[in-house]
Amino acid sequence: MTEPGHAEDGDFDAHHQLQGALVDAYEAALLDGAPRQLAADTLGHLVDFTAVHFAEEERFMAVRAYPLLELHRAAHGRLLEQLQALEGRARVAPADEALAGVRRLRAWLREHVDGPDQALVTWRNGP
Ligand SMILES: [Fe+2]
Ligand SMILES: [Fe+2]
Repeated sequence: MTEPGHAEDGDFDAHHQLQGALVDAYEAALLDGAPRQLAADTLGHLVDFTAVHFAEEERFMAVRAYPLLELHRAAHGRLLEQLQALEGRARVAPADEALAGVRRLRAWLREHVDGPDQALVTWRNGP
């Protein structure tokens, strides 16, 4: 079995998997009809963890003098604002709005991981 990567080496796959698992847990809470507060708390864990994850990525990029740090940091800022807006509606949004939010959430995270995060991995791996 391959050793899992570590964030200090710029390997954030485990973080991205945890983000995906928290989105799945949030969606499951909505679909299972769990109390809305429980679902909202799950989304809150995703937002909190994502803030920590972004800070770790930014620290890695700063230490390595990554040339696209500022662009990537700006993308993090926008994404966090989108997540917080969703979180702000989580306790009051009707189920169909909340589930539409889950689909947007997945799309945002996928676009970020496939875009700026993948560019960072490619740069880290070198020519
Ligand atoms: Fe990122
Ligand atoms: Fe990331």
